[in-house]
Amino acid sequence: MTLVLMERPAPHVTLLRLNRPEVRNALSPALRVELRDHMLGLSEDRDCRAIVITGNEKAFAAGADIKAMVATEPAEMMAHGDETNWAAIRNCPKPVIAAVNGYALGGGCELAMCADVIIAGKGARFGQPEVRLGIMPGAGGTQRLPRAIGKHRAMLMLLTGSMMDAEEAFAAGLVSKVVPDDAVLAESLKVAVDIASMPPLAVAEIKRVVLAGADAPLDTAIMMERRAAYLLFGTEDKREAMTAFLEKRKPTFTGA
Ligand code: CAA
Repeated sequence: MTLVLMERPAPHVTLLRLNRPEVRNALSPALRVELRDHMLGLSEDRDCRAIVITGNEKAFAAGADIKAMVATEPAEMMAHGDETNWAAIRNCPKPVIAAVNGYALGGGCELAMCADVIIAGKGARFGQPEVRLGIMPGAGGTQRLPRAIGKHRAMLMLLTGSMMDAEEAFAAGLVSKVVPDDAVLAESLKVAVDIASMPPLAVAEIKRVVLAGADAPLDTAIMMERRAAYLLFGTEDKREAMTAFLEKRKPTFTGA
């Protein structure tokens, strides 16, 4: 069975659907490898300008597969090289939108947090329940959650495994937008199409500077921003965008 289904629902937009509905899209090692391979391929695919990752109406993903973990020893965890799977998602240069319905728990919440934009349905639930299993998040949860919603709200979730609903997650800054459950995919694709219509080099530089700058001292980050901004002045798409504005016409971007 294909564990991650890939579609091209609109020009330059790729949709990845996690496909283990019988276990709430639990992220088995095999699924993570499939997802990694797609992300690596799309990272280099010049025709792809935005990626939407989604699950199904019940779950975005209920975390790592507990059945696959119950008897796993540390050495085996290390040998799996799971870090490279997550790195492929984290380091993807294309904008990633998480379209979240239902549960985004554990590794599922961490996957959503790797995305650049999170569109959640009203019934979505976010959480890091690892503590209840005697473990802890291992794919960024202890770092991304406090950065997204602040230490004290994150600690409450991490230490008790409690969940946040979509409205709370939006108010806390974890989610970009909340929409009715049945509008999540359409809204996510709309955002993806919108991003895909932007000049690709400007989009790529914005993503790169936002992410790299977040880990740098402010002065360094501002310098990175200025350099990247100046670089974009040398692109064809900048000339086209500004000329089109002045000529009162729609621009055509080539990615050059
Ligand atoms: N791994 C394996 N199987 C899972 C699973 C998971 N993470 N989550 C759900 N399933 C399976 C259930 O065992 C069940 O299987 P059966 O039909 O064979 O019994 C099926 O999916 C449906 O699940 P439920 O009957 O429990 O469905 P529900 O709608 O009542 O509850 C849920 C949904 C709240 C997500 C609940 O299934 C649940 O709590 N799942 C576990 C969530 C969790 O603890 N995730 C963290 C995993 S650890 C992790 O992710 C580590 C990391 O960061 C690297």
